[in-house]
Amino acid sequence: MSKKRVLVLGDFPGDGLARLQARCEVTVWTAGVESSAELASLVPGYHGLLTQLIHGVDESVLAAADKLQIVSNCAVGVDNIDLEAAARRGVVVTNTPDVLTDDTADLTWALILAVMRGVVSGDGVMRRGEYHGWQPRFHLARSLTGSTLGVIGAGRIGRAVLARAPVFGIKTLYHQRQPLPAAREQELSTEWRGLPELLAASDIVSVHASLTDESHHLLDERALRSMKAGSFVINTARGPLIDERALVRVLQDGHLAGAGLDVYEDEPRVVPELLTLENVVLLPHIGSATWETRVRMADCCCHDLITMLADNRIPARAIGEVRR
Ligand code: DGY
Repeated sequence: MSKKRVLVLGDFPGDGLARLQARCEVTVWTAGVESSAELASLVPGYHGLLTQLIHGVDESVLAAADKLQIVSNCAVGVDNIDLEAAARRGVVVTNTPDVLTDDTADLTWALILAVMRGVVSGDGVMRRGEYHGWQPRFHLARSLTGSTLGVIGAGRIGRAVLARAPVFGIKTLYHQRQPLPAAREQELSTEWRGLPELLAASDIVSVHASLTDESHHLLDERALRSMKAGSFVINTARGPLIDERALVRVLQDGHLAGAGLDVYEDEPRVVPELLTLENVVLLPHIGSATWETRVRMADCCCHDLITMLADNRIPARAIGEVRR
């Protein structure tokens, strides 16, 4: 029997790809894909797609993919894929949960530390030769100990962020529609709050919700202004969860003391004003960017493509209902 065909979008570390090549006929496309229209022109004839979060797999792509059985997305977020359209067409979608949880939670804490302690601005001081000796009032920042962290979205990554807080002597609150079971809350030493209460009570707010129509601009200008004066906001999830232009305004007028961002509304573009603000630390979407994790993410995708296309089984990571 002839091997099924897989289109791999991008170049991935590790040997997952070699295992996939042994079981399927693989095309690795490294030229980049500019639009859904371009992606739609590439997909006919392929049974499997290995995508990244930058690839919009919408109705038009799925309609063009005449043989498609599976899209394996090398990310935990699947907001780049029209899940409803995929389900309607019987296309299985898988993602890469768990394997990137710790790295993303660590990077969230790196941003919390960076913005609260002025790590990046301090580095700038040294590089510009502006350090002229220890002074009691020089480069004062904010203590983590004794502050309150509010986590929005207590999924895997949100919970891993909460779990790291006691080390810093930080009290935590969390918000999501459905509170966690009491035992989980106890284990994480955290308490559920309604969103307005969490925003009003937290010194740092970190967003970990998935991006949906409902959560788009979850932190709009009103929500940002309802945060405690002098507090910080962190986003390692998805840019559109925060209204970026409103964020600029609340940072410029000093209502918020700072922001740590790894994700943006219109990646890879950033609103230019953010680049001019001293109290902001900006990273290039690197939450999962370690060798170890990127190898594991690629492994997950290759494993799921093999399971579906060579072993004829629905992978355990299949998201939602597949209507066949
Ligand atoms: C994800 O997996 O959704 C991350 O944003 C990738 O770094």
